[in-house]
Amino acid sequence: NLVKLKGFKVKKILIKNVKSFINEDVRLDGWVYNKRSSGKIGFLMLRDGTGILQGIFFKPEIGELLFNEFKTLTQESSVSVEGKITSNEKAEGGCEIQVKNLIIHNISKDYPITPKEHGTDFLMNNRHLWLRSKRQHSIMKIRHEIIKATRDFFDNNDFTLIDTPIFTPNACEGTTTLFATDYFGENAYLSQSGQLYNEANAMAFGRVYTFGPTFRAEKSKTRRHLTEFWMVEPELAYCDLNEDMEWGEKLLEFIVKRVLSNRQLELKILGRDISKLEKIKAPFPKVSYTECVEMLNEGGFNFEWGGDFGSPEETFISEQYDKPVIVHRFPTQIKAFYMKRDPENEKVVLGMDFLAPEGYGEIIGGSERESNLEVLLERVKHEKLPKNEFEWYLDLRKYGSVQHAGFGMGIERVVAWICKLPHVRETIPYPRMLQRLRP
Ligand code: 4AD
Ligand code: MG
Repeated sequence: NLVKLKGFKVKKILIKNVKSFINEDVRLDGWVYNKRSSGKIGFLMLRDGTGILQGIFFKPEIGELLFNEFKTLTQESSVSVEGKITSNEKAEGGCEIQVKNLIIHNISKDYPITPKEHGTDFLMNNRHLWLRSKRQHSIMKIRHEIIKATRDFFDNNDFTLIDTPIFTPNACEGTTTLFATDYFGENAYLSQSGQLYNEANAMAFGRVYTFGPTFRAEKSKTRRHLTEFWMVEPELAYCDLNEDMEWGEKLLEFIVKRVLSNRQLELKILGRDISKLEKIKAPFPKVSYTECVEMLNEGGFNFEWGGDFGSPEETFISEQYDKPVIVHRFPTQIKAFYMKRDPENEKVVLGMDFLAPEGYGEIIGGSERESNLEVLLERVKHEKLPKNEFEWYLDLRKYGSVQHAGFGMGIERVVAWICKLPHVRETIPYPRMLQRLRP
């Protein structure tokens, strides 16, 4: 192999760029995705993380020695090849490489994930390897695109990215889903949301967003809940509920458009019906919680005003539309302490949820925030929250309090919807759920 290394004097390139190197000699580094041979010709499907390319090993040209080395290759062995890129209409991607030289770095023995069908549990236990498969690879590429689009959207619209802490002394989204950890003798909780800090940041910068991992001790097994998920949260000073909705609409439209233009190949691999995504254009339908209750009861549910929507209710509501639907003005009793009450009806708050179509349910949750000190104090007391831990937050209502609003979008829920996946466990590289901490 060392002798052959001498031959590797050509340019090292990525498979995604091979089209620009037709008739040139190049080097590719990757792993064996698949392999077969017929008589004097060996076919190697090489993957390098950016794409898959067919390599041709033609025995009369490369000789017996190299051809025998090709024969030893197994699925997921790591190799470098050198050869000439040629165009071939029949090959995947329109190109292939006529291999002249090969280095084997590691022969993979008994790779556990074979082209046959495997159960979900087996695949989840082998998540560290499963990520190499075409389908998982496509999902992660789309996840990357969604995150990049999200950040570009806010960056292009004068939002400043301000990071918020993960160790916190208090709850943002209710005390039942807190993860506690020992912080030098006192309890610290893993952040459920950066919102409260984000509100302080908005008073300093006007438009801000935070993006990071958030944690919730979700004790139920559903296809929508993770215990660790990534959330992007914009917050705006001088913003009301209507404007808040508009930002959410514009964001989702932007994300979908970007995925459609940059990730066609991946959507195709996933078999995604693109026509459904092409319909995602603002404005989106808006219905109040109260109207949703009527809709549910007409649809055969027996739903009482005042309750929280669960997955079946959300699925039913979102299935009525081919765009995300914005549900607003929820009962005060089911929503967080910081949501502003509707001045026209104290029983409801100026909160909103975006429910994704095709039955996906909530992907965004947000609200206008209570900006009045007395009302907020009363809400903190009513929820039995430790007032001393909220002193700094209450300061925001003492020093230049203004109307403000924001929302949180769960990245994994958006990935699940855009890729049309049956479960959020495939939307994040290493999912954390009730019964999964490994690998
Ligand atoms: O509706 P939520 O709880 O809202 C908040 O946390 C607000 N503080 C956000 C804000 O206004 N700044 O969560 C927001 C979104 C949900 O719509 C959902 O997409 C996602 O976060 N989410 C989860 N995703 C995966 N697993 C879970 N357990 C999730 N809980 C919420
Ligand atoms: Mg919510």
